[in-house]
Amino acid sequence: MSVGVPLLDSDHKTLIGLINQLHRSIGDEEEYAAVGSMLLALEEYAAHHFAREEKMMEACRYPLLAQHHETHGSFAGKVKALRARYDEDPTGVRARECQTFLNSWLIDHICTTDMNYRSWVIGHPGAEAAAQRVSLTGGGRRARQVDWARLRVLLVDDNVTFSEILRTILVSVGVTNLSAVHDLDSAKAVISHEPLDILVSDWHVGEENGLDLVKWVRRGPPDQARLPVLILSGHERMTNRDLALLAGADEFMEKPISARNLLLGMARLLEPAA
Ligand SMILES: [Fe+2]
Ligand SMILES: [Fe+2]
Repeated sequence: MSVGVPLLDSDHKTLIGLINQLHRSIGDEEEYAAVGSMLLALEEYAAHHFAREEKMMEACRYPLLAQHHETHGSFAGKVKALRARYDEDPTGVRARECQTFLNSWLIDHICTTDMNYRSWVIGHPGAEAAAQRVSLTGGGRRARQVDWARLRVLLVDDNVTFSEILRTILVSVGVTNLSAVHDLDSAKAVISHEPLDILVSDWHVGEENGLDLVKWVRRGPPDQARLPVLILSGHERMTNRDLALLAGADEFMEKPISARNLLLGMARLLEPAA
């Protein structure tokens, strides 16, 4: 399925990864939260990827750019409509419906329409450079300064689907050193034995409270106590930003999580103090 530009192949992998996670969430008790986060991430990634692809087509003077742009617009409009329906009633948009639409549309688009520009971009000197000029975090200076490939991240979430959505978002910017655990004891074991740069934890980890983990981190030895912590929470649950910060978290975000906000939020925590 390669289109001949590694950055675009990597975008396609991210988009397909999101669709696969949607499949895994079917019937899950947190299916609605997963659908919301996936739709939000998909909308962001599609916008970012389409812009990237069109910049590259422009650089190659691809003759079918206008038609291709129109097809992208039609897809973006459909995802936007799904998201609007979700915002109105999160229980009204099911994972299976999204998956059917995405399989038939996006995968078909990648396998056919995108393949048409392949021969134009392969070996074109400006194609890769044009694609590189568009990034998910936009002009975010801090996000550009983060060395994502060296970052050591621990994710704590009892919901495996949501964990995988976060993983897809982080891998898309180059994170490779990432542990994901689903309970507090496993989280404490990783924190005690492995050097980490950031902890991203759900507030409700099954029956356990992620804020207890934050308090435990802050009571630990100096290196552990300084660990930046981002707390996430399902928007339907009773949670409060002030309580999370009071427990020692550095940042709090509600699900559905925006990929861009997650990356920019993490980058803010990782910036060395001035
Ligand atoms: Fe594409
Ligand atoms: Fe495309």
